[in-house]
Amino acid sequence: MVKDTVPPPALRDRLGRRLSDLRVSVTDRCNFRCGYCMPRETYGPGFRFAPRDQVLTFEEITRVVAVSTELGVRKVRLTGGEPLLRRDLERLVGQVAALPLVEDLALTTNGSLLAAKAVALRAAGLGRVTVSLDSLDPLVFQRMNDVDVPLETVLAGIAAARAAGFHPIKLNTVVRRGLNDEGILDLAAFARREGHVLRLIEYMDVGHTNGWRLDEVVPAEEMIERIDSAHPLEPLPPRATGEVARRFRYRDGSGEVGVIASVSRPFCGACTRARLSAEGRLYTCLFASRGTDLREPLRRGVGDEELAQRIAGVWREREDRYSELRTAGTAPDPARVEMSTVGG
Ligand code: GTP
Ligand code: 5AD
Ligand code: SF4
Ligand code: SF4
Repeated sequence: MVKDTVPPPALRDRLGRRLSDLRVSVTDRCNFRCGYCMPRETYGPGFRFAPRDQVLTFEEITRVVAVSTELGVRKVRLTGGEPLLRRDLERLVGQVAALPLVEDLALTTNGSLLAAKAVALRAAGLGRVTVSLDSLDPLVFQRMNDVDVPLETVLAGIAAARAAGFHPIKLNTVVRRGLNDEGILDLAAFARREGHVLRLIEYMDVGHTNGWRLDEVVPAEEMIERIDSAHPLEPLPPRATGEVARRFRYRDGSGEVGVIASVSRPFCGACTRARLSAEGRLYTCLFASRGTDLREPLRRGVGDEELAQRIAGVWREREDRYSELRTAGTAPDPARVEMSTVGG
């Protein structure tokens, strides 16, 4: 019958963008207090994180991912907060990796708990690991994360991930002028030597608690110039539409570096990412002020079809392009969700 052979039209938002990536925050907690993400003044001892029973179970997360794959999702990234604070995360990895339509499963972590987990994560089917690493100077590193986890712990996590077979590992550095920008050449040299891919990220105005100021943003162009003048670079073509990073390779063939210019050169036009918070809200932008509750229908026991309708309905209505509006100077300024809620 004709009806069965015609594929359904691809799901698109109001700006014609497909849904192909899902970023899943598995917990809103973190053992770091990076000033650009979870500043201590806000996330102090009195801060109320999501109570355990409000956080999606692994089974609930897997169900949302499975239904999302029916709507187009192929790339899944587990994030947080710090995802490795979730006990037995490898069990979730195994469940998601087993979904037939998931082509790419990655994890973003601060690396502090990675050494003990790398082998289990790999064995469970995790494809790729990204580790946040803001400096190789132990003092600057600790000033950035504002806790007592020493740099060596994270370096050991990265080394363990490499030994477990993750390659290349991506290293994410959020660059803040006057704090860690002097260290980007050291980071580039380290990444090059070890075969990791460094990604330098412009400091963004996510949420409201970090007191973001434009003068702390080091434009990607400037970061590239600084590296290029020490180690000549040449641009690489984008690998896929919607790629967040602009990629460069060292002219001597020794590796790759990327810049994520979401302030100076936004990439909303090709943004195919949705985000699921630890409490089961679906967000269609990193800078969203509202999410759509999926936990309630999940716990009410709705079928896959109804869940899919709900997600598809949200995506069809989507018209987010916050970074473009911010750069154009026309962004609205309502309450914005925090990065640790919506996933880095
Ligand atoms: P790949 O799956 O390797 O392509 O990862 P990615 O390029 O999406 O990078 P990753 O998920 O590690 O994101 C790196 C950083 O880019 C994040 O921590 C954010 O700071 C920023 N970022 C990622 N997605 C978005 C987005 O949709 N909008 C904006 N404004 N920034 C984003
Ligand atoms: N600006 C840019 N990136 C941020 N991240 C968190 N907060 C910010 C911010 N304000 C990203 C970092 C980190 C990931 C978990 O979230 O890339 O590696
Ligand atoms: Fe934690 Fe990552 Fe946010 Fe730092 S950036 S506070 S490590 S979630
Ligand atoms: Fe996508 Fe929103 Fe980021 Fe633009 S600002 S790239 S729409 S998540």
